Amino acid sequence: MLVTGASGIGAAVARRCLDEGARVFVVDRDDERVADLRGELPGLSGLAADLAGEVGAEAAVTGAVGALGGLDVLVNVAGLSGRRFGDGPVHEATAAGWDAVMDNNARSTFLMCRFALGPMLRQRRGAIVNTGSVLAYAPAAAHFATHAYAASKGAIHALTKSMAAAYARDGVRVNAVAPGLIATPMSERAQGDPEILAYLRERQPLTGAPGAPEDVAAAIVYLVSDEARFVTGSVLEVAGGWSVAG
Ligand SMILES: NC(=O)c1ccc[n+]([C@@H]2O[C@H](COP(=O)([O-])OP(=O)(O)OC[C@H]3O[C@@H](n4cnc5c(N)ncnc54)[C@H](O)[C@@H]3O)[C@@H](O)[C@H]2O)c1
Repeated sequence: MLVTGASGIGAAVARRCLDEGARVFVVDRDDERVADLRGELPGLSGLAADLAGEVGAEAAVTGAVGALGGLDVLVNVAGLSGRRFGDGPVHEATAAGWDAVMDNNARSTFLMCRFALGPMLRQRRGAIVNTGSVLAYAPAAAHFATHAYAASKGAIHALTKSMAAAYARDGVRVNAVAPGLIATPMSERAQGDPEILAYLRERQPLTGAPGAPEDVAAAIVYLVSDEARFVTGSVLEVAGGWSVAG
């Protein structure tokens, strides 16, 4: 199993899958995060690479195939929130912000799928899970107005469905998760903002609080497992009721 992202949700997926006996290869652009997770989890293999570029994405897949002896499962979790690059509401967002977010979220997901499909199509078996967001289809204008981010996640949902349709007859399943606000390093700003925490009490009514990375990992583990052998093209919301709250 190849997991992108050695922090937050990606790290939770790696921990859970190793616990269940899977062989896991992790890739992140941040080499310290890869090293820390490998230090914590003996048996984990991995490397550092920038997945927004073809060279890094290809190296990630080649490295995983070499370390694991093949590739059955790809879990695309790596991504970023682009506020610091200039993402924001459209009238204020910069083109550089748009590009950074599209590159690191949508382009990296596309490239990883493209390279992983090689071995999967040859063996006529594979499962891919991509990471979208509730913000792609259920916005929260007052608190999460990063419009390039929402667009990048919408692109990931659309890519997921198009690929699911195209590769179903080849034995490759493609699904996505759409998390709500999850307590990870990415959402530190939101976790420390009392107004956002008050908002979550209404918007994520199951708990009234941020979700845990393990909540998303559990959904991903289901989608890549044989329990989901009849499931493809779905976007599974893991968000405490975000899109039905109100
Ligand atoms: N945390 C949330 O509230 C939340 C909500 C909805 C969706 N998501 C999505 O979940 C995914 C994981 O986020 P997280 O919360 O675990 O965040 P995180 O910041 O803890 O982890 C994301 C990791 O992706 C890596 N990364 C980013 N761009 C990369 C690239 N081009 N190449 C290689 N690695 C790269 C980062 O270095 C980081 O370690 C992201 O796609 C994010 O958009 C998160």
